[in-house]
Order: sequence, then C-alpha cells, then structure tokens
Amino acid sequence: MQHTEIIKVLRTEPSLHEIMVRGWVRSFRSNRFIALNDGSTIHNLQCVVDFESFEESLLKKITVGAAIEVIGHLVESQGQGQAVEIQVAKIKVLGEADPEEVKRTILSPKRHSMEFLREQAHLRVRTNTFGAVMRLRSKLAFAIHEYFQKNGFYYMHAPIITGSDAEGAGEMFRVSALDPKNPPLDEQGNIDYKQDFFEKETNLTVSGQLEAETFAMGLGKVYTFGPTFRAENSNTSRHLAEFWMIEPEVAFCDLDGNMDLAEDFIKYVIQFALDNCQDDLEFLENRLLDEEKNKPQTERSEMSLREKLRFVLENNFKRVSYTEAIEILKRSKPNQKKKFKYLIEEWGADLQSEHERYLVEKHFKCPVILFDYPANIKSFYMRLNDDGKTVRAMDVLFPGIGEIVGGSQREERYDVLKQKMEVMGIPQDELYWYLDLRKFGTAVHSGFGLGFERLVQFVTGMGNIRDVIPYPRTPGNAEF
Ligand code: 4AD
Ligand code: MG
Repeated sequence: MQHTEIIKVLRTEPSLHEIMVRGWVRSFRSNRFIALNDGSTIHNLQCVVDFESFEESLLKKITVGAAIEVIGHLVESQGQGQAVEIQVAKIKVLGEADPEEVKRTILSPKRHSMEFLREQAHLRVRTNTFGAVMRLRSKLAFAIHEYFQKNGFYYMHAPIITGSDAEGAGEMFRVSALDPKNPPLDEQGNIDYKQDFFEKETNLTVSGQLEAETFAMGLGKVYTFGPTFRAENSNTSRHLAEFWMIEPEVAFCDLDGNMDLAEDFIKYVIQFALDNCQDDLEFLENRLLDEEKNKPQTERSEMSLREKLRFVLENNFKRVSYTEAIEILKRSKPNQKKKFKYLIEEWGADLQSEHERYLVEKHFKCPVILFDYPANIKSFYMRLNDDGKTVRAMDVLFPGIGEIVGGSQREERYDVLKQKMEVMGIPQDELYWYLDLRKFGTAVHSGFGLGFERLVQFVTGMGNIRDVIPYPRTPGNAEF
C-alpha cells in the first residue's frame, strides 16, 4: 500500500477504502485525536483512535514529534475544524520522540519566539510558520522560472567562484586553497596567489550580472537565479551574507523597458502566490494580525497581508527621479524636524533606508521606482546620462522592505566605460572581457537584480530576513 500525502487526503471524498498516511504527530488529545502533519500542507489531518482497540504501550509512543504511519478510512468529521478525518484501523510508530527531550525543543506545542526557532534551525521547518514560509519560497522560485521561461528568457548559470568584483564595492569572500598557517609569499612578502589553486585571487560572486551581460549579448534575453555572497558587515533585518538573486539581462532594452520588466515580473509572481498558496497566505495573514494585536493602534498596518499583495497588483509603481525624490525628502517633516538619522541637505546625498521607506510608506504610499541617480554613488557599469552627472540607474522600493530591486541600463560605449573604470579605480586587466563586449557589436542593454529573500519577506510578511531562508548566514553566524 502506498501512502497518500495529507494535502491530497484533505481534498478527497469520504469512502470505505482504506488509505495510508505518514507524518509527524503535532498533538495527541484525550488518547483519541492525533493531529498529523506531513509538510505537504499547513493543515493537519485528524486521526481518530479508538483507544480501547490499541495496546497501551503503543499509544504511549504516539507523542509530539514522533513519526507515525496510519491506516484507516476517511470519514466525514463529526467535530469542527475539518471536513474529513481518518478512523484509525492500524498505527505504526516509525520514529519515536522522547517527550522529555521534545520539551526542550521548538517542537513542543506552544508559542516560541522566532529567535528561539533560529537556534534550532534544523527543526524549525516542522513549525507552522516556517513550514508555510518555506512552501511559499518554493512556489515563488517556481513562479520566477515560469515567468521568464514563458517570456522567452534563457536561464543562465553564472559562476559562483569568480576573479572579479561585479559591484566594485570590495565586499567579497575570498576563495583560496592555500594553507592559512603557511601561505607562500612573493618577493614583497605578500601572499602569492599565483601559487593558489586558480593561480590568481578569487572570490565568491557578489552578483552574476557581468557574466549575464555576456550572455545577453548572444542569447538576447537571459536571467540568472542563484546564490550570491557579500561580506558586508550589515546586521539588519534585510541583509544576509549569502542570499539568492534573480538577475535578468536584456539586449536592445533601455531603462524604461527595464522598469516595465521589473514591474510586470514582480506582479506576476505575487499574483502566482495569491492564486496558488492560499492556505499558507491565510495562515501567515492571521499570524501577522495576532502579532499586531500587541502593538499600539497607531503602529498596526492598515492592510492585511493579502490586501497588501493585492494593492501592489492593482496599482502602478510610481516612477520618480532621484532629483525629484531629493526635493520631496528635503521638504519632508522628518527632515525639517531633524528626525532622520541622516538629514538630506543637498543633491548627491546617498539615500538610506529611512529615506526610502519615507517615500514609499509615508509620501507615495505605493511601490516606487527611483531612477537617474548621481553617478558617483552608483556602480561603474551604469550608463551615463547626457547631463554628465547622473546615471540610468533604478531602484524599486517596497513598503516594509525598502529596496527590493536594483538595476540599470548598462554603459555600452567603450570609451565612456573605460574612462569611468579608470576614474573609479576598477581594475581593467581583470575585466578586459567585460570591456571587450563593447568592442564587438555593442548594443543598448539593461538588467536588474531582485533579492529573492526580500521578495519572500514581502509576500510572507516576515519581519526578519533570517526567517525566510533555510540556514541564514549573517555576521558571526554560520551554524548548521
Ligand atoms: O542593488 P544590488 O547590489 O545590485 C546588484 O547586485 C546588481 N548587479 C543587480 C543587477 O543589475 N543585475 O543588489 C540587488 C538586490 C537588492 O535590491 C536587494 O534586493 C538584494 O539584491 N540584496 C540583498 N539581499 C539580502 N542581503 C543582502 N546583503 C543584499 N544585498 C543586496
Ligand atoms: Mg542596490
């Protein structure tokens, strides 16, 4: 006999046929009602045990956390809260869980803090919240591939180990096979990476963009979807040292086309979640409502989780130039009353997340795309505007999240790019191949990067980015 997933069982009509299910015990009430969960859905299957027909010693092993197999037939439920339940004929305990030990874990059936869940990250997928988030994460990843595949993009696998710094920000993890206790030295006494595995300095990629550009210049429309790494010491609820990024890159596309693509793409995946993840979204929505009950009225959000998602679908993202944004920020109340940590005094200031969130949450009250940033606060590869001081950059800003997408039209003019690299101190010998692209059939092209975890945060309403990735890596933490 094959076992059936609980998600399927719950959609089945009652019948006298016996079925088999397997899962982990969430609770066992009154020696009679087992709540069984197998991870296929947020919902538990109620298994009703007639305890007089089973050995006491067996029943004792049906404890929270234990893995069991149940055979019985599906009947209409007498109780409330479920349409069907299993009338248990046979039970087998597949893996026991000692109640004394379970007590000390997050499996014990009571409310645990998200911090405590993180300490036992190997068990947290068995909790309702984390299980729902991880199912959504999986569905969103699928929706992302579906969007690009349906729209004529090719999936490109950018290298994880690279010899370059795509962002020019120097936030890289070194990759080396040298003996750290006794590395070979060159004549100047520096570590001699010529004797390292790759015979040069290498690092984990911070972005697949530069390689994706080479592919866009041959395949036309491509996207990457892979892990990226940043050794930036940002201990916030929005930063990870290892995160997943989706980076589309499109030949013959300018910044306006790039903004259209970002908006259309984000709306597609959010719609997909609303259409395909109703149960998990409902659970997460109620969880948020619960959480907000402890907050003062003024701090509670005006919309429920799914209302927020629908709001994004139903409204155009507001497109605003950096220059306009600076004017708005200068005149804003928190700036005039010196409430911002970083006051906006003049054009050219880099925007902090407090400013981004003011624009999105207080001023425009909808997703915002900022574009045409000052050249000197953005990366070297962005296309210089005719004014000579701004570049064709764009950031998509989301409520509660801040920056969710960063992208640009790329500098396709050889001389302009070369000069910019010189001025910004970007090593041309490392990136000769990137410059080469501008020599052989150069063309207008654009792309962006979407931080996958920030998207998952937005869709699930989770406050901390550490709770939307299986095993978060942050400064001081690479446990598990
Ligand atoms: O703005 P970023 O740094 O842009 C790039 O890497 C470009 N090469 C993308 C491109 O044009 N192809 O990063 C893009 C996005 C950010 O908007 C943010 O959502 C996410 O990646 N991100 C992070 N997410 C989690 N933790 C971090 N440390 C992140 N850094 C960036
Ligand atoms: Mg950025």
